[in-house]
Amino acid sequence: MEPTTSEPRIGDAFGRTLQRCWAAGMAPGAAFEITERDDGYISTADALRYFTPLDDLSDLDQTAVALARGRILDVGTGAGRHALALQQQGKDVVGLDPSPGAVEVACQRGVAAELGSIAHPPEGIGTFDTLLLLGNNLGLLQGAQAAPGVLRQLASLARPGALLIGTGMDPAGSDPDHAAYQDRNRIRGRMPGQIRMRVRGGAVATEWFDYLLLNPHELDRLIQPSPWRWETIHEQGPKYLAVLHLNPS
Ligand SMILES: C[S@@+](CC[C@H](N)C(=O)[O-])C[C@H]1O[C@@H](n2cnc3c(N)ncnc32)[C@H](O)[C@@H]1O
Repeated sequence: MEPTTSEPRIGDAFGRTLQRCWAAGMAPGAAFEITERDDGYISTADALRYFTPLDDLSDLDQTAVALARGRILDVGTGAGRHALALQQQGKDVVGLDPSPGAVEVACQRGVAAELGSIAHPPEGIGTFDTLLLLGNNLGLLQGAQAAPGVLRQLASLARPGALLIGTGMDPAGSDPDHAAYQDRNRIRGRMPGQIRMRVRGGAVATEWFDYLLLNPHELDRLIQPSPWRWETIHEQGPKYLAVLHLNPS
């Protein structure tokens, strides 16, 4: 018998969402980011948050923008809100993102954005004094297995003395759906906040990927064997800004 349901087509659902928001003049409610977790949990958020102007950035983000120095790589730049804020302060920043739609929007907004990922940066992109993982992009560490490789790849893009500045979020909380998901992760030997998810939009979805919510202690454990060392941390409730520097040895 013919199946009556089918899976969404694989595509750049995140980039399409940014493009819709941008094309609608960044009107509130014009485009929603829809994420699906592998236990079926769906969440939505107005894509407008990816266009936040400098003055409305959170305190943690503003601190990150202030600390960034030298040649800066905004890893996972999205629509380029942090890159634009940095440019407004006269800083030299390149955006990097694997989403063609995101890169297109960021470029249209005036960001020098390039298509690529941490694992596959564009040839000749060079090295940087500051690497940014903002908008919760410490999540790109993925999990305990992938993180050492990701941290090494980031180090390969870093100049001596470089800073790695990222925002993250402690997944602990009282929501029973999230608590059950974290328990399931523990049983499966995954980090509690290791979220298997995909972004959806229309009939299109991204591939499934792991995105990591982790607390500062968990981040500390991932950093120990890596080329990165703590500089400082700024905490605001469950959210935090981690500032690391490249180990000189
Ligand atoms: C949560 S969004 C944050 C966007 C932006 N930093 C902001 O705060 O507005 C995550 C971004 O990381 C990008 N991304 C996903 N995997 C990546 C990878 N391996 N390397 C670089 N960027 C990645 C996504 O395409 C997306 O634009």
